[in-house]
Amino acid sequence: MKLEGRVAVITGAGSGMGRGMALLFAQEGAKVVAVDWVGESAEETVRLIETEAKGEAVAVKADVSSAEDVDRMISTAVERFGGVDILCNNAGILDMKPCTEIDDAWWDKVIGVNLKGVFLGCRRAIPEMLKRGKGAIVNTASIAGLLGGAAGMAYTVSKHGVIGVTRSVAAQYGPQGIRCNAICPGAVETGMTRDMLKDPATLQWLTSTPIRRVGQPADIAQAALYLASDDSSFVTGALLVVDGGWVVR
Ligand SMILES: NC(=O)c1ccc[n+]([C@@H]2O[C@H](COP(=O)([O-])OP(=O)(O)OC[C@H]3O[C@@H](n4cnc5c(N)ncnc54)[C@H](O)[C@@H]3O)[C@@H](O)[C@H]2O)c1
Repeated sequence: MKLEGRVAVITGAGSGMGRGMALLFAQEGAKVVAVDWVGESAEETVRLIETEAKGEAVAVKADVSSAEDVDRMISTAVERFGGVDILCNNAGILDMKPCTEIDDAWWDKVIGVNLKGVFLGCRRAIPEMLKRGKGAIVNTASIAGLLGGAAGMAYTVSKHGVIGVTRSVAAQYGPQGIRCNAICPGAVETGMTRDMLKDPATLQWLTSTPIRRVGQPADIAQAALYLASDDSSFVTGALLVVDGGWVVR
């Protein structure tokens, strides 16, 4: 098992990619702190881990844009499982609005969850990882962090920012044993995209890639497992694009 005995905090673990990561990491031996602002969905992920993966997990209802909530999620990992080895900053919300349709509240919300949430997670988890002399952070960015036209403006800016956080943390904390990488998913079938994918024209657009299908949460979970495990011990500050070839079309 690739994560035997490690403690993994995963945000947005109540759905989609986060749930996929939580289940796979538990199968690989990790103790999982499943974080979501929808408490019941985090609890359902824990139930699935306990029944399907025969693993150990705890649910935390927390909003990643709140420093207090992020403190509680990391404190839970320390109190329950003794520390933090892996942090997957994965929670996010979608936005498809162009610049002139974004009001102040929406801008603050998207940036607060998608970008500030990643910063807050790193800020609180890194000191715990430093105590262990080791840690792996995996941020879920997006192809919208590489391109201008894949999503709305606030989302695009937030995901460019996630790449900035990833590179900065990688550079600053690598010498102390902490690696930080980002995954850039393309279109993946999750709660975020399910309704969009029902529209045949959108589905055709999103599958006009070399691989000719949308991704599944398991595709992203495998990438996260690589970046969270010692298999990627020489990899930091990297962007792993998992998009069926969207950006090379
Ligand atoms: N689905 C895609 O096509 C796609 C593509 C690229 C990147 N992403 C990114 O992948 C990540 C996971 O998204 P998904 O597709 O699995 O979507 P999803 O909606 O299925 O899951 C996201 C989860 O995050 C939770 N969440 C949202 N805001 C939160 C907050 N403030 N605090 C705590 N939990 C919160 C939601 O309740 C949900 O359970 C996001 O960062 C998203 O931007 C998704």
